[in-house]
Amino acid sequence: MKAGEQVRRADTGVEEAYADFLRRYPDYSGTNRLDALRSTEYRRLDEERQVYLDYTGGSLYAESQVQQHATILAAGVFGNPHSSNPTSAAMTEHVERTRRYLLTYFNTSPDEYIVVFTQNATAALKLAGESFPFATGSRFLLTFDNHNSVNGIREFARSKGAVVDYAPLVAPELRVDEAQLDALTDLADPTRLNLFAFPAQSNFSGVRHPLELVAQAQSKGWNVLLDAAAFVPTNRLDLAAVRPDFVCLSFYKMFGYPTGVGALLIRRSTFGKLNRPWFAGGTVNFASVQGRGHVLAPNEAAFEDGTLNYLAIPAVEIGLHYLESVGIETIGTRVRCLTGWLIEELLALRHSNGNAMVRIYGPANTQARGATVTLNFYDPEGHLLDYRRVEELANHQNISLRTGCFCNPGAGEMAEGLTEEDMRAGFALGSGVTLQSFLKLIRQRGHKSAGAIRVSFGLASNFADAWRFQQFAASFRDQTNLAIGDVTFDIDSCRFIRDGS
Ligand SMILES: Cc1ncc(COP(=O)(O)O)c(C=O)c1O
Repeated sequence: MKAGEQVRRADTGVEEAYADFLRRYPDYSGTNRLDALRSTEYRRLDEERQVYLDYTGGSLYAESQVQQHATILAAGVFGNPHSSNPTSAAMTEHVERTRRYLLTYFNTSPDEYIVVFTQNATAALKLAGESFPFATGSRFLLTFDNHNSVNGIREFARSKGAVVDYAPLVAPELRVDEAQLDALTDLADPTRLNLFAFPAQSNFSGVRHPLELVAQAQSKGWNVLLDAAAFVPTNRLDLAAVRPDFVCLSFYKMFGYPTGVGALLIRRSTFGKLNRPWFAGGTVNFASVQGRGHVLAPNEAAFEDGTLNYLAIPAVEIGLHYLESVGIETIGTRVRCLTGWLIEELLALRHSNGNAMVRIYGPANTQARGATVTLNFYDPEGHLLDYRRVEELANHQNISLRTGCFCNPGAGEMAEGLTEEDMRAGFALGSGVTLQSFLKLIRQRGHKSAGAIRVSFGLASNFADAWRFQQFAASFRDQTNLAIGDVTFDIDSCRFIRDGS
């Protein structure tokens, strides 16, 4: 059978499903311009028959972004920026233009925010954490569903004597417990420097926390760090309306290219309170070996250690213009429709005995949530299917999804009902603890799981992607004993086949 025939057979049913989807989600029709882009800018997806469902891991770049960047590089002579020689000045012009445009993109200005270019969101978070003046009597408060790159800030806070608190989530939706958060934010001594950190959108559950939390916490004496990494790829962040003290992000999550560049936006009114714990090439106006002293450079220069990834920075401006031209609201509408449809379809899946096949961690509708859907599969007797096995089967079908805990242990612990005791038992395994040994341990402690499957949509997603995953999910109906190595997935029949049968 030719590859093309195989594709057509496997896709039987997609048109009918699409018509039904449009009846249920009529707003999707308004996002047609993204279908045109899918067949031009992202044609490689369908040419390679890839089903990309890991936009929360990283977005995809449009062909034209790469071409425009290559054109700039091919036409110019660029040196290391921030010198007065002509090639350096040419590069500085690109870097500073991109810095200014980033602020315009987020509807703010250099009077309000300083933009520090970093390697990624993690580096931005580390800069904020290490320079925040935590001290005895100050507090660091985080929601349970922060990425580990935010959780890590607690080590800076602890080492400087600050109190660290976590605001819990409420299962099954995994939204923040607002009463408890309110009580925890009341504990701040406004005469001290306190920091509250939360993700605008959870990279585990897709929950979008209310951005009003920023002003509420600020009014009680908190500085607020908004992790926008998973939010800005499909939502507009208006920094004239919401004014966190810090915002961090990675550009590859917004528009796929370039990797290796992120940003920390720091409110000017907060900037003066920060203490850089060291200096480096590029961050000082004056430094002496004999005098054992240094004078930090002003503004962002004090935070940009060493040489920026300068040749990549023009691609950030290109990417931002690209998102503007596509329309972030259009992207938001499209991914909301796909997410709503997929959640409904997954929750409707039943084994022949009527038992549910899928459990979703997070909101089961599209209210205040993004396009990240985290789930696990269950067999007819309600036993959890091994998500590593599911990933392996998805790989065979060119479906790119993600499994594990997504660097977000707190949300995973809440979602799966893991207790402090369970986690302490994990640490008791010592430095040799692995995911394998921990999974074994917690299963012995009550058939729990640690980890899940995550699918996420983004700017190049279409209905066929959602439909193919739904078909894949439906193929687990009545499946038992999906032990590694003894079944493979047959794309023609969309069924599992026992090896050797
Ligand atoms: C919400 C959130 N914050 C921070 C990060 C860290 O981003 P990076 O790995 O680009 O530093 C991620 C990455 O997945 C994320 O989803």
